[in-house]
Order: sequence, then structure tokens, then C-alpha cells
Amino acid sequence: MARNIVIDTDPGIDDAVAIMASALNNDLNILGISVVAGNVDVDKATSNTLRILGFLEKKDIPVYKGAHRPLLGERIDASDIHGDDGLGNIDLKIPRDLKPMETSAPQFLINIAKEYPKDITLVTLGPLTNLAVAILMDSEFIDNINSIVSMAGAYGLTPYGKGNITPKAEFNVYTDPLAAKIVFSSETEKYLIGLDITQKPDALLNEDDMNMLRDSGKNGKLIHNMLKTLFYASGGAVPLHDPHTIIYLIKPEIYKFRRYFIDVEIYGENTYGEIVVDDREKVPEWLKQGFPSYICIDVDGEEFKKELFNTIL
Ligand code: BDR
Ligand code: CA
Repeated sequence: MARNIVIDTDPGIDDAVAIMASALNNDLNILGISVVAGNVDVDKATSNTLRILGFLEKKDIPVYKGAHRPLLGERIDASDIHGDDGLGNIDLKIPRDLKPMETSAPQFLINIAKEYPKDITLVTLGPLTNLAVAILMDSEFIDNINSIVSMAGAYGLTPYGKGNITPKAEFNVYTDPLAAKIVFSSETEKYLIGLDITQKPDALLNEDDMNMLRDSGKNGKLIHNMLKTLFYASGGAVPLHDPHTIIYLIKPEIYKFRRYFIDVEIYGENTYGEIVVDDREKVPEWLKQGFPSYICIDVDGEEFKKELFNTIL
């Protein structure tokens, strides 16, 4: 039986690729997509979700608009990376019959978790604001979720685990650290996939990958077009962060996780948005700082790309 998932996202080029991979894999059943402000504002991010679903002819997947700003701090976007439209400035229309649902994203998350208790894997690809609001609104919400798989954080557990906003802070955590703290301190199983592995050299898209995408069918061409400006601006090697969450669900054996206690810095002037990892080995658990999570510490990058292309192309 297919695994039920809900995706919370802020498309975003790599979000779009993750949505494509999940929608095209028969072992995953997307019950809905909730959208949050992140890479672009929440209206653009919602339109982008609909644009991608329209392109894929997956018009039956419901889309819910969520938070327009973080719980903490001002909204910061990443349109310098993802383009003004959030998808690399491609020419892709929303089909006229596609609209977001009336229900707000946090309310949808609460409702769907009640409808499928312990039967949903929540995949997050953006700032964690919608989840945090759902946790604050409904004391039973998190108990109804089976597990959370998030693209979030930089942990310094591999040589590639450096920040992409500040030296140690990653975008999805930095843009709403309070929401991340609320989600990470919640009592559900959390699998956190961060820059420690998404920036690993063998997982980066290279020139051969880009040429192959350009010369393959319509899905590959779309990904190539979304990525091309970013790819050449970044010197010919680009990470695809968000799709790791989906490929992890499809092929978990190529990922390695370890359990750590972590917490999010929400006050620091220079450390705002960083994750503190308690990696002390000789300290008993009751003395450890933070909350337990499984952190991804390795991936077979070649296998990741192979599985991603097999799923999408
Ligand atoms: C994360 O930030 C966003 O720009 C990407 O979509 C990804 O979710 C990587 O730090
Ligand atoms: Ca994202």
C-alpha cells in the first residue's frame, strides 16, 4: 500500500523538483500540500505549487495556503537564488481551473492528521511556521502524526554541514527559528536532513546532469529550465536540497541517520537560527541539552541522483 504523505513547502526550485518526484512515485500518496512563505511570498509559493501540479496533470492534489510571515522576525526570502517568480523565471501558467482550497494550511494539517491518525508522514521543505501554528492550535495534532521528515538545518556533523545564510545557519531554520524550535521540541519522530548531506559533493548536480536533463523529455527540460540560471551563476555545481526528503522515503537504505539531542538558537546576535547539537558521547541522556531527533549524516550522492532521475524522467 502506498505511504500517505503531506508536504509543507515554499516553492522554490528544489521544492518543485521534490513535488515532482513525490507526485510521480506510486509508493507515495500525497494527501495534500500546504504552503508557507519562504523562498518567495506565500501567494507566489502557492501559485508555484499549482503551476507544478498543473504541469504534471496532478490536479486532484489539494493545495492549502498558509502563513505569510514567520513567528519570529521579519520575512526573508530567497528570490536572489530562486528567481523573482521562485521557479527560475520560467514560462509556466496556472491552469484556470486550479485554485487553492479555502481552508488555511495549519487547519488542514490538523484536520488531515485527525482523519489519518498515526498514518501520515509529514514532509517539510520550507520554514516550519505552518507546523508550529498547528502544534500551538491543537494539542493532539503532533500525536496524530506518524513522523516528520524535514529538509532543515546545518549541524556541523560532516565537512559540508556549514550554513547557507550565516556561517552555521540554514535558510529554513534561520527564517523562522522559533517555529523550528517548537517543531523540534515536539514529541514525534523527526528525521532531519540538512546541509551536512545536501551539500555533499557527490550529491550536487553537475554539467553532465544538466545536459542530460536538457536532452530528456518534458520533465527533464522543465527542471533544466528552472535551474539553468542558478547553475551557471553558482559555477557549475548546485545542490538539490529538498528532493532528499522524498528520495529518503523511496530509498532509505542510501541514507544514514544518527540520534542526537538538538536545540535551536533564537536569541543570539551572531548565532541566531543555528542548531546546537549535543554530540557529547560520554554524557548520559538525562544530562543532554535539547530534544532527540534523527539527523542525516551521510548519503550516497550518486544513488540519490540516480533514483531522482529514475523517478522523474
Ligand atoms: C532550503 O532553503 C531553500 O532555499 C530551499 O528550497 C531549501 O528548502 C535549503 O537551505
Ligand atoms: Ca524549500
